[in-house]
Amino acid sequence: MAVKGKQIQTEIFAQLIKRADSALLLIDALDKNQIDHTKLDPNSVYRLRTNPNTEVAKRAADFFDRVRGPVAKEKDALIAKFAPEIAKAGNVSAGHAAFVKNCAVCHTLNGEGANIGPNLTGIGAHGREELLVHVLDPNRVVEPNFISVSIETKDGEQFDGIVARENEKSIVLRNQTSEHEIARADIQSKRNTGRSLMPEGFEALGAETLRNILAYMCDPKTVAAKK
Ligand code: HEC
Repeated sequence: MAVKGKQIQTEIFAQLIKRADSALLLIDALDKNQIDHTKLDPNSVYRLRTNPNTEVAKRAADFFDRVRGPVAKEKDALIAKFAPEIAKAGNVSAGHAAFVKNCAVCHTLNGEGANIGPNLTGIGAHGREELLVHVLDPNRVVEPNFISVSIETKDGEQFDGIVARENEKSIVLRNQTSEHEIARADIQSKRNTGRSLMPEGFEALGAETLRNILAYMCDPKTVAAKK
């Protein structure tokens, strides 16, 4: 399965990054395009960028700034800032409450919540660091069916959301507050925003709340629960 291959790849990168000399070889290979940089998982990127070895950190920063642009750079920095914070022990029950308040409007976890975004049951098995990347940078990887679409109707109304259903007569757009059926005949324009329906900016919740939410999601009891 593709997932398995990806896991192995991620482990290999993690091993290479552990030592400065092999981390530099990895950066060389990226630089020479012997390894496609988009294959590198987000955690590896920020481990390189925030490497305790300053030569590794500097070369990684130069490389990624060049190939990935300013937005990705900001997100990497944000993730690197929060990573040590969310590694500390969190409060699982406070995290549960914060999840219900901030995330359950879109996500189901263990049978609780809505079905706008993907079901997160069991996702805690991936660990806090990986989830942090999804939470702080939702646009890094978005499955096509979760990309938000923007429709303007002929009478000037605007709707945003993901396409829940469509047929030759109409399109149903869904977002966290509502579901709208729009007749194709009424559509003035339809635009793919290229952005996730998951909003950016959850860093505003603060390190403690994010840590608690991730502690709840990754708690062995949450992961093991059968919904
Ligand atoms: C407005 C709806 C919305 C809200 C609110 C929201 N999400 Fe999401 N989330 C999505 C959508 C849509 C996706 C799928 C597309 C993507 O990955 O960006 C997603 C993806 C994710 C993923 C990756 C899932 C996967 O299968 O790869 C995680 C983890 C996640 N969200 C966690 C959270 C957490 C934690 C919160 C609360 C702090 C939250 N989300 C709030 C809509 C939302």
